[in-house]
Amino acid sequence: MATAQTQLPEPPITAPSPVSASRGNVAVQLDKVLKRFGDAIALHEVSLKIQEGEFVTLLGPSGCGKTTLLNLMAGFAEADNGEIFIGGELVTATPPYQREIGIVFQNYALFPHMSVAKNVGYGLRMRGVPKAEITQRVEQALALVKLQGYGERKPRELSGGQQQRVALARALVIRPKVLLLDEPFSALDKNLRLSMQIELKDIQRKLGVTTVFVTHDQSEALSMSDRVVVMSAGHVRQIGTPDAIYRRPQDPFVAGFVGDVNILPGRYVSRDESACLALGDSILRLPAERVQADVGARVDLYVRPENIRMGALGPDTLLSATVVTHVFQGDHVDIHLDVPALGQTRLFVRQSGLQALSRWPVGAVAGLSFDAEGVCAFAAQAPSTP
Ligand SMILES: Nc1ncnc2c1ncn2[C@@H]1O[C@H](COP(=O)(O)OP(=O)(O)OP(=O)(O)O)[C@@H](O)[C@H]1O
Ligand SMILES: [Mg+2]
Repeated sequence: MATAQTQLPEPPITAPSPVSASRGNVAVQLDKVLKRFGDAIALHEVSLKIQEGEFVTLLGPSGCGKTTLLNLMAGFAEADNGEIFIGGELVTATPPYQREIGIVFQNYALFPHMSVAKNVGYGLRMRGVPKAEITQRVEQALALVKLQGYGERKPRELSGGQQQRVALARALVIRPKVLLLDEPFSALDKNLRLSMQIELKDIQRKLGVTTVFVTHDQSEALSMSDRVVVMSAGHVRQIGTPDAIYRRPQDPFVAGFVGDVNILPGRYVSRDESACLALGDSILRLPAERVQADVGARVDLYVRPENIRMGALGPDTLLSATVVTHVFQGDHVDIHLDVPALGQTRLFVRQSGLQALSRWPVGAVAGLSFDAEGVCAFAAQAPSTP
């Protein structure tokens, strides 16, 4: 996409850019970036490379350092150590307005006394862009976020979703090298949030703009991103495609934080061509690379609820379980079961369709088996209670 700020002529902001052609260059690079607040370390030597045109999401619980990382990229805060490159240039000492970054915050941060058009054009006026061009680019940006004709309104005359679109238009109008968004939809209700996610993804694809999106909502991260960076306590735990993060988590934190999961106690019994894990009185075989523990160790098995099959008791049964309750979720049902062989551990199985309710009433006994693809195991974190 075009990144020059003031030269004419330029393609309109709505022009599709060849995303695939621009891939391959590194848009943002962080090398061992460390940030302290007093004695506390908010970011521990974070390294990350984001390709041009990529949509990368920083995902993690509150306080893990997502906003701090975004602020360092934007130049609103200074790293105590390490280097940051944008478009191949070292920007560690470059002030925010020279970094060519568009930013959207959670709380919109629109100027209340300015009209929508003035808000959107703000960054262009600061850059000394000629008036006629500002008018044209503001109109294009408003059309991009589907707010044609709203230019003269004040922010207070808009809904939350519309205000957030103005914030997005204001960030995009400068044709940023990188678009940063910090929990931009968290103040919106669920439906609006979903439609804004789709619109943002659509706009991002059209423009091919490199995007770093922050959220603590794992479904938002999985549905929108080319790659997800999972963070906790100032550390990057895993970087990967949504599929890899979900299906091949590298540590217990990622396995537990991303997606719903059952955590079951087991023991790593032996290893030949595959790993053999004892689970209650049964043995489960897994590809050895899905188990991170020493043979003989107690392990926690992480099993996705959609990867547990329920059927009649039989030779394929791994665990026998009794239905305790159902949680109806609209598009699926979570069936919670007691598993006597696992002591106090209760697990839940996800099934689609209402027939699951009648097939597995409370008190029914089922034989459970697991899809190995949906299971991984790590050395147990806490000693199991006898
Ligand atoms: N200006 C500051 N002064 C002191 N500590 C700070 C400052 N800003 C952030 N912190 C601390 O740094 C850590 C990371 O904060 P950060 O705002 O980056 O978290 P976050 O992942 O964005 O969380 P949330 O999801 O709640 O927005 C937290 O422990 C926070 O208390
Ligand atoms: Mg934050």
